Amino acid sequence: MVGNDGDDQTAILPLDQAGSAMPVNMNSVNLRAFDSVENGRANRAKAGLFPAEVEALQAVPDAVRCGRVLELGVGTGRLVSTLADPAETYLGVDYAAQAIQEAQRAFPDVTFRRMDARDMPDLAVDAFDFAVFSYNGLDYVDHEGRCQALAEIARVLRPGGYFLFSFHNRDFRDLDRTLEPRQIPLWERVLFFWLAGARRRRDALRDELAKGCRATSDYAILNDSGMNYALLTYYSDLAAQTALLARMGLGVEAAYAIDGRRIDPGEVFEDDYMVHVLCRKS
Ligand SMILES: C[S@@+](CC[C@H](N)C(=O)[O-])C[C@H]1O[C@@H](n2cnc3c(N)ncnc32)[C@H](O)[C@@H]1O
Repeated sequence: MVGNDGDDQTAILPLDQAGSAMPVNMNSVNLRAFDSVENGRANRAKAGLFPAEVEALQAVPDAVRCGRVLELGVGTGRLVSTLADPAETYLGVDYAAQAIQEAQRAFPDVTFRRMDARDMPDLAVDAFDFAVFSYNGLDYVDHEGRCQALAEIARVLRPGGYFLFSFHNRDFRDLDRTLEPRQIPLWERVLFFWLAGARRRRDALRDELAKGCRATSDYAILNDSGMNYALLTYYSDLAAQTALLARMGLGVEAAYAIDGRRIDPGEVFEDDYMVHVLCRKS
């Protein structure tokens, strides 16, 4: 059952990523990784929209998209121009100080605030027409945190407001490939002798994070190749997310594959590692 975190520990653990008795704290591991200077710099150059984002934004009524917009997990601002330019008001938030600094540097005239999506007491009820949490940003808190963030998003959205986000797809048929470390070619090792040390550190971190991996019938926490295996990531499926969103008063309007193709609500979607979802507050 969605939201009953911890009750369903008997589910088969996927891909041999069974956790041990001493789980690591997913929330602090991920915040530490996102808040690193290296991450802020690495994300500086990111630009462009996924076709799914283009399609989903076109499906949002103009009055909503051009109204009061809240972007969560803004990162270094990949979507800022797209969302802020047509908006009546725009607020970009992220819980990582490095991200906010980079975003503010890139967009000095735009308003950004450091804020955790799980707890946004400064934002009023019904204050926004449109909320966006892009590029799977919601997948870096644990299940309880996800429920808290969704409840907060539903609280600050006005009735009829829209929420667009994406999540890591547990049904992806090549999922096991994203969990395997990339084989480093010989020329890289020879050229960059320090890579051996970096690889040892990465492997040690992977061993540690394996303790935080787990699975229930609705989601799995996995250590995938994102940020060179420095994160614990929430993977789920469209049916489980639809049920969770419904509990928060958010009805799914449409779901999209990365290439912008619509996904049927009842479909077990296996083609991509991520799914975009557009929903509307009742
Ligand atoms: C994968 S990055 C995506 C950045 C940007 N939205 C993009 O699409 O390029 C995820 C972002 O979500 C932020 N994030 C994760 N959990 C968050 C939370 N609970 N509250 C606020 N920001 C969060 C991270 O710091 C990171 O900047």
